Amino acid sequence: MFAGSNVGRVIVELILVLHGPNLNMLGKREPGLYGAATLESINSRLKSLGAELNAMVETQQSNHEGGLVTMVQQAAERNVAGILINPGAYGHTSIALRDAFLSVQIPFVEVHLSNIYAREPFRHHTYLSDIAAGVVVGMGEDSYFCGLRGLLAGLRKS
Ligand code: DQA
Repeated sequence: MFAGSNVGRVIVELILVLHGPNLNMLGKREPGLYGAATLESINSRLKSLGAELNAMVETQQSNHEGGLVTMVQQAAERNVAGILINPGAYGHTSIALRDAFLSVQIPFVEVHLSNIYAREPFRHHTYLSDIAAGVVVGMGEDSYFCGLRGLLAGLRKS
């Protein structure tokens, strides 16, 4: 089976999961807010869920705004069908990341572990939400799993 191609009756999409700044610290970082799960365990569960749903999941993390922009740009050249992103704090600040998504036109779902709307006012707005196919917040690591299911369901409807 090859990512991004139809093989027999099985459709396999390549899904890119992007984690923004400080998410490499999950498990150690404010566990009361973000949970005890490490990024490695979330990534491994996302890959298993992807396999169950006949999708190939690739995961990347960067603490750098430009690194995330480049990953989004490169996704367009790699036949990535959809992107699941937790932009971390860059969601609240990065017009560059918004512009990257607008330029590639790859459907994406934005997720946040915490309920950003129940936190400080500066977290209530993100530069991605209004151009995302969907947004999932406040469900801890389940935000990622719900986001992946929703992203694939949406891709398969279109
Ligand atoms: C976060 C929420 C952001 O406001 C914060 O800057 C993060 C994590 C979340 O997953 O809840 O780094 O994206």
